[in-house]
Amino acid sequence: MDKRKVFITSQIPETGVNLLLKKDFQVDIFKGGHQISSKELVKRAKDSSALICLLSDKINKKIIDQLTEVKIIANYAVGFNNIDIEYARQKGILVTNTPEVLTESTADLTLALILACSRRLKEGIELVKNRKFKGWAPQLLLGKELMNKTVGIIGMGRIGTAVTKRVKAFGCNIIYYSNNVNIEAEKTLKAKKVSLTELMKKSDIISVHIPLNSKTKNLINKQNLELMKKDAIFINTARGEVLDELHLIKMLKRKRIFSAGFDVYQNEPSINPELLKLENVVALPHIGSATHEARNKMSELVAKNVIAVLSGKKPLTPVN
Ligand code: DGY
Repeated sequence: MDKRKVFITSQIPETGVNLLLKKDFQVDIFKGGHQISSKELVKRAKDSSALICLLSDKINKKIIDQLTEVKIIANYAVGFNNIDIEYARQKGILVTNTPEVLTESTADLTLALILACSRRLKEGIELVKNRKFKGWAPQLLLGKELMNKTVGIIGMGRIGTAVTKRVKAFGCNIIYYSNNVNIEAEKTLKAKKVSLTELMKKSDIISVHIPLNSKTKNLINKQNLELMKKDAIFINTARGEVLDELHLIKMLKRKRIFSAGFDVYQNEPSINPELLKLENVVALPHIGSATHEARNKMSELVAKNVIAVLSGKKPLTPVN
């Protein structure tokens, strides 16, 4: 019997690949070093039993229709807005993601952005790099300390809770907006659930941790953004499309808020050039889960999901 094939749209850490090979799957990996085209993806995946893809691979109806042999699409990410999961379900294809294993890494990066924004690290680094540092000065790059600040967490799921634990250690008070009450956050972290309007109005720092779907698209719209305090800091490590990015850029341009930190963008990988011109913006290249620890575990988890489904078992982390 021919070996069953698993197609992976990019090189991922070998932990997961080795698990697949040990189970005697044939593993085909796209090694182009760039984003795979839809045409190439279909060509390589259509005779595969499983597809392992990235958050940047758009797996829409047209593609799903051509993946006639695929039983499972294992997304190498916690977010799965890149896949039409409902259509996959109709076609009998299971979709999985990689929750939990990247929570701590993404929360760490969120904290890095909070600190970078509040202490104006980008401006400091530029100053030193451009040899403009002329010595200690009383007014040089004054930022904000975190002690006693109110942090508004939009989306108190796994990552929102992990960020809460971190900022709590810096002496912050927490309010959050979420569909559900998070008992752990309320009891042990003293977080208080509020409306989105109240959160936008009262927070010194706002950090976004909601998934992108039809309900959350543009949730943080122009009206909500305009409610922010004059010296607020806005951080987004979730998905660009959950907010009106263009309007936030306008606000940053006129220094309507203190600063913003981005790891994700509306039209990734292209980034609005206006955003990059702003000194009160820290912009990162979507590296929330980019640690050796998280990526190794993500690789293992996608492989375990594929192995489970192709062995007739339930996937570990299904989303449809
Ligand atoms: C994901 O996995 O969805 C995150 O965007 C990682 O940063």
